[in-house]
Amino acid sequence: MKSLMYRSPRFYVFMLKIIRGNDLERRYMEIARIAGNGKVFEAGCGPALLGRYLDSERYAGMDLNERFVRYARRKGYDCVVGDIFKDEFPEADVGVAVDILHHITPREKELIERMRENFETVIVIEPANAFNVRLPGFLRKFWDSVFGDADGINPLKNRERWQFTEKELIEYMKDMGAESVHMLGKDVVAVFIGKKRQ
Ligand SMILES: C[S@@+](CC[C@H](N)C(=O)[O-])C[C@H]1O[C@@H](n2cnc3c(N)ncnc32)[C@H](O)[C@@H]1O
Repeated sequence: MKSLMYRSPRFYVFMLKIIRGNDLERRYMEIARIAGNGKVFEAGCGPALLGRYLDSERYAGMDLNERFVRYARRKGYDCVVGDIFKDEFPEADVGVAVDILHHITPREKELIERMRENFETVIVIEPANAFNVRLPGFLRKFWDSVFGDADGINPLKNRERWQFTEKELIEYMKDMGAESVHMLGKDVVAVFIGKKRQ
């Protein structure tokens, strides 16, 4: 079951602007800065907000949410419906995973490794506090399925395990092999060197 945000790309964009505030623009500008002139592929691209910060021919994305992908394609971005754990990634220099690890947990290492196999550089951006609301059992389920992060792909019982302080998340990125980790507002930015560059 998808929450309202994952049913409507417009509502998703509206909510994201409210939830993330200034961090939203800052995170996409940071990716554009790190990526330089490289071609970027975004795993779990959502409605492709990142595309606005790159030349459209330098951006591609993949997501299982058909409505998001349709919205992104209407905006002119090369996005496809696909599973980031199964489907082949397109050719690109830089792989990006923004705001997605807390959705796919406990498979975050698998995704990062898969991306490192395919790209020269992998950029991961994750808020230290994902969109988690601490509520008792049934209310948490209700919140999640109506207003929360229920993407219709990953179950709440997995997603709710994603609990880190800022410091813990920085350490976790380093443990997973990040070359550099820094804070940007409330986001943790981790850069991994891909196998194609080693
Ligand atoms: C919070 S959104 C982030 C979207 C985008 N990266 C952004 O910055 O706005 C997480 C996205 O991951 C997608 N997703 C989750 N699991 C996926 C999977 N296995 N394959 C493809 N997309 C997935 C969801 O459909 C959702 O659009």
